[in-house]
Amino acid sequence: PRLEEVYNSFDFESIARSILKKDAWYYFSSGAQDEISMRENHNAFHRLWLRPRVMMDVSQVDTTTTLLGTKVSMPLYISATAMNKMAHPDAEKVLTRAAGVRNVIQMIPTLSACSLEEIVNARIHKNQPQWFQLYVDKDRTITKRIVQQVEAIGIRGLFITVDLATVGRREKYLQHKLINSQLQNDGGQRISHRERKSTNSKRSNSTTSSNSNQRGSIIDPSLTWTDITWFKSITKMPIILKGIQRWEDAVEAYKRGCAGVVLSNHGGRQLDFAPSPIEILPEVIDALKREGCDPKKDFDVYIDGGIRRGSDIFKAIALGAKGVGIGRPSLYAMACYGDQGVERLLELFQNELCMCMQLMGVSSIEEIKSDMVDIRNLKDH
Ligand code: FNR
Repeated sequence: PRLEEVYNSFDFESIARSILKKDAWYYFSSGAQDEISMRENHNAFHRLWLRPRVMMDVSQVDTTTTLLGTKVSMPLYISATAMNKMAHPDAEKVLTRAAGVRNVIQMIPTLSACSLEEIVNARIHKNQPQWFQLYVDKDRTITKRIVQQVEAIGIRGLFITVDLATVGRREKYLQHKLINSQLQNDGGQRISHRERKSTNSKRSNSTTSSNSNQRGSIIDPSLTWTDITWFKSITKMPIILKGIQRWEDAVEAYKRGCAGVVLSNHGGRQLDFAPSPIEILPEVIDALKREGCDPKKDFDVYIDGGIRRGSDIFKAIALGAKGVGIGRPSLYAMACYGDQGVERLLELFQNELCMCMQLMGVSSIEEIKSDMVDIRNLKDH
């Protein structure tokens, strides 16, 4: 279909399914095991109903907001995904350019296909904001080098992924073959590729994970809360933990001086039966408030997983999130239509959010409040 005939993020998904090579489709679309968490991520939004106000003068609606000090067109960012070359030969650069055009933030993955230099050079304006997603390497000298490298090139937020102590079993993908060879070959020139190579032989002997594959063997399962102190000593970038799945850990992150958390179950790709982020969002916000924290001011709470509509963004903001991330939708949009597809996807999200705000009777992101969403059925599966 022509791009004008794409009406929403789901359309990109069905087109991607029909055009992508099988291995790419299964890599992107798979979730862990029975995919209960993956489906629940979006389905949970269906249990939240809106409470619109009318006659509120919504002739001017402003979707802009500020995320970690950066003004953006809407409270949505492109989350980090690995193996983007399977979607498009220009991989992360497509996302960089489209994010620049639509003025949203792109989170660059550790396992990028393009080099960091290539991604930075793809920025369409000099000060285009970007964040970085970090997988913590068993070899901390590698991690330190990556962190300092990304800080030096002006990255504005360090998102440490904490939900990958081992790689979840995405059985659909495994059934459709590959894994080690693909991760090695198509992972391309990962940011620390050269550094990693030099320590590979040492590492292969010391791998003890029973479920190890390429990623499982580089990511450190011994990561603990005390490491936050070390991260704070090597960087001035705000540190956000990506993959928080219960309120106690959000509070811990706050107490340890992180700038925020991303409530996420990795798009349902890690622990099956991890709760959907939107479902735990209210209790996370309540718990933070009990600690004397003012979420949205002192500490940012983001969510990702199953964001497919402008109303999903609205609901997340209403329940206390500062912003939301998208994973698969941008992969599908870039696989189908390259730059224009991702631009269109972002435009659709913004249009939908804008329309939702108008019909809800609010003119700005700050006006979106918790009483606008009925959460009575949220826990009612
Ligand atoms: C991911 N995600 C991810 N997260 C991360 O921290 N590092 C990574 O390398 C990847 N890689 C990755 C690959 C693919 C194919 C997917 C689908 C996801 C998780 C991602 O950042 C985000 O948390 C989820 O994708 C959000 O869920 P949705 O929007 O895909 O439902």
